[in-house]
Amino acid sequence: MKEIFSKEYNIFLGDDVFEKLAETLIHKEYSKVFVLMDNNTSLHCWPLLSAYLVNFVPIIIPDGEVNKNIRQAEFIWETLQSNFADRRALLINLGGGVISDIGGFCAATFKRGIDFINVPTTLLSMVDAAVGGKQGVDMLSFKNVIGVFKHPKEVFIYPPFLNTLNDNEKRNGLAELCKHALISDKALFEKLEAIPPDDWGVKLNSLIFQSLKIKVSIVKKDPLEKDLRKTLNFGHTIGHAIETASLLSDKVPLKHGEAVAIGIICEAFISKAIDHLSSKEFKNIVEYISNRFPKYKQKINQEQLILFMRNDKKNKEGNIHFTLLKKIGKAKVDIICEDDLIIQSLNYYQNL
Ligand SMILES: NC(=O)c1ccc[n+]([C@@H]2O[C@H](COP(=O)([O-])OP(=O)(O)OC[C@H]3O[C@@H](n4cnc5c(N)ncnc54)[C@H](O)[C@@H]3O)[C@@H](O)[C@H]2O)c1
Ligand SMILES: [Zn+2]
Repeated sequence: MKEIFSKEYNIFLGDDVFEKLAETLIHKEYSKVFVLMDNNTSLHCWPLLSAYLVNFVPIIIPDGEVNKNIRQAEFIWETLQSNFADRRALLINLGGGVISDIGGFCAATFKRGIDFINVPTTLLSMVDAAVGGKQGVDMLSFKNVIGVFKHPKEVFIYPPFLNTLNDNEKRNGLAELCKHALISDKALFEKLEAIPPDDWGVKLNSLIFQSLKIKVSIVKKDPLEKDLRKTLNFGHTIGHAIETASLLSDKVPLKHGEAVAIGIICEAFISKAIDHLSSKEFKNIVEYISNRFPKYKQKINQEQLILFMRNDKKNKEGNIHFTLLKKIGKAKVDIICEDDLIIQSLNYYQNL
């Protein structure tokens, strides 16, 4: 079992983490344990975890980003309340980023805050969503506009959960893994490049661990996103806008990671234009993403995207701020970019 200890919480990763989880529960003496899952994780993941828990109340919500909203949050709060959860109750979030985001938000706000533990079940949530302390829900298709900062008590990562995850969902997590490498670890990017596209058979334990270490160390230095943490937004200024547009208009909306992958290409393009990312590194990034992610073929409404970017909670005074790459492994934050260059980057992607 691999471990990362930080002041606020500990992360355990390995094929034997559930014994540790059971130990934690005995030690903490929670008044009641609730387990939040969606219809898929209740089917595929719950049977592997349930043997380690006694006396729990399951809470099941329908899966998918469309359910990361205040109505499902209300259902979770109501279930906690009707089952007499007090402030010493615990919520275990068993699922992907949707479950850890909404579950963490509900736990952080219920009776002014109860403990929660994340047990991520998708690659994306293992490398990203389950750690970092950002919790929240979407509103009117705008991503994560309602939320809080609060850390889980502990995170238990059990990579064999990935065995039931389909390739699209694994690819989704790859975008965030790649982002972590691009902003701070060139050697990790080279390891990722060495895995052939569509080879999902490799054991990802050590890559997940390296990626997590990057996120944890960044969040530790800047928990409230004043400066360094903004490096984690690489690919997300354009990525989030495309994700929002797709949620509003596509029958099968882009997944978060798929939108971030497009954002990575566009923001690497902008990095080359303003921050001197070399043509060679730019080409490597574009090749890595294009060989692994299908091309988004829907029409991109550029004016609408710019509007969404201006509206992003991370921006100030109507300027659109970017995290860009100086080189692979080194990011720079708070760079203001003109609309014209953003449009050029979108055109570049569309013409690939
Ligand atoms: N808080 C943060 O810091 C942070 C960071 C990145 C992403 N996010 C959020 O995470 C969300 C995306 O997370 P996600 O990609 O994990 O999506 P998700 O939670 O919707 O999971 C994807 C799909 O996989 C299914 N699934 C989950 N685990 C499975 C398993 N082991 N086997 C089979 N099916 C399984 C789910 O039911 C769902 O249908 C977005 O809402 C995004 O905003 C948050
Ligand atoms: Zn992300």
